[in-house]
Amino acid sequence: MDGALTQNDRSHVVDADKAHVWHHLVQHKPFETTDPNIIVEGKGMRVWNQTGKEHLDAVSGGVWTVNVGYGRERIAKAVYNQLIKLNYFAGAAGSVPGALFAEKLISKMPGQSRVYYCNSGSEANEKAFKMVRQIAHKRYGGKKHKILFRDRDYHGTTIGCLSAGGQDERNAQYGPFAPGFVRVPHCLEYRRHEQDGAPQDNYGEWAADQIEKVILAEGPDTVGALCLEPVTAGGGVIAAPDGYWPRVQEICRKYDILLHIDEVVCGVGRTGTHWFGYQHYGVQPDMVTMAKGVASGYAAIACLTTTEAVFDMFKDDADDPMNYFRDISTFGGCTAGPAAALENMAIIEDEGLLENTLVMGEYMTGKLHALAEKHAVIGDVRGKGLFLGAELVTDRETREPVEEARVKAVVADCMKQGVIIGATNRSVPGKNNTLCYSPALIATKDDIDQIVEATDAALGRVFG
Ligand SMILES: Cc1ncc(COP(=O)(O)O)c(C=O)c1O
Repeated sequence: MDGALTQNDRSHVVDADKAHVWHHLVQHKPFETTDPNIIVEGKGMRVWNQTGKEHLDAVSGGVWTVNVGYGRERIAKAVYNQLIKLNYFAGAAGSVPGALFAEKLISKMPGQSRVYYCNSGSEANEKAFKMVRQIAHKRYGGKKHKILFRDRDYHGTTIGCLSAGGQDERNAQYGPFAPGFVRVPHCLEYRRHEQDGAPQDNYGEWAADQIEKVILAEGPDTVGALCLEPVTAGGGVIAAPDGYWPRVQEICRKYDILLHIDEVVCGVGRTGTHWFGYQHYGVQPDMVTMAKGVASGYAAIACLTTTEAVFDMFKDDADDPMNYFRDISTFGGCTAGPAAALENMAIIEDEGLLENTLVMGEYMTGKLHALAEKHAVIGDVRGKGLFLGAELVTDRETREPVEEARVKAVVADCMKQGVIIGATNRSVPGKNNTLCYSPALIATKDDIDQIVEATDAALGRVFG
């Protein structure tokens, strides 16, 4: 690390942080006696904190974001060059990187054709919800306005997104929520024993059929859209089993329901082989939202893409002053986002990172399965590409989740060893028991070995 802080700088920064910064998702009481972690510098997959301690980051910036790794001068230069030429203009006008990134993005998403820019995953999902509602008003007298979301999925932090939130601990104490959002069951086969009537065989199809049951109970003419994560992230790293997605697509078509896929975590390479998670399953969404990995955190950018058919619904009567998408995103007009996103995508292509993610994802899955042979506390290993989870249980027969405090102890032990891993956190009540891994798409076998060895040592110390 060459940007090391001097002793004086360091204590000033720590004091300023402790006095004034309100960190996300953190209880601050402990900071009365300990210091927060302040990340000072990053390179590749490694970051250094205020004490100069090196960490291998197995969660891409904590929340699955820095897909191409830290310290990418190519992106920094592209952003710099763009900012000195034009930093901003509101989205009613176009920009050079906005047009070029839209073209490039759509070339990776056959079936999609339009890109709406904004600046966070939550905001992109809100836009999609607003489109569904506006379509309901324009075409169905407001009736087909309900939005289905899935148990254990998360779509963002705003009240609208929490209304579509399938993680009760995220939602607790923030209600009341917006009406017209309806929950459908999860598709986590490992926990099918907790779902009434779930079969041993063809669980995927059965799980999708539960969505149809909800639609029929609500009335198909009231349901406008179904919003799903391609691989549930914070709800436990859940990839739906075979048979699920074709049935989901069929159900959406049958009842004229828009399929909205939330690729905020999976989008832009995270699951390997394909650019987007849904592309593994051959589904054709009507709307796709994305954020984190779009520019790997080098600039804030989120996108909502739609098919041309959805886009057409907002321009079919140009004489009606209300008949277009009357939405505003001030920072959707920041040019740094698409400038960074263009370079981010070019890096993934130039360095073959979709392939690396496939290969390293398989390698890491194998390593985690081997770890499960050693530690009975690992009940399930799952995920896709470099987006993996290990669910911890007290007993493999009953699948009773381990106490959350012990999951946290594993994460803390890894941190002490200089390896940052994650765990499901304030998500599903009693089920915050999945270790999460999402290393950058540049991960090597050595990096993965180090991550798995740290987990091995931590599990040994915490569970014996
Ligand atoms: C699947 C998913 N959707 C949406 C969001 C919200 O994104 P943001 O935090 O950028 O608003 C997240 C954030 O973790 C997410 O995991």
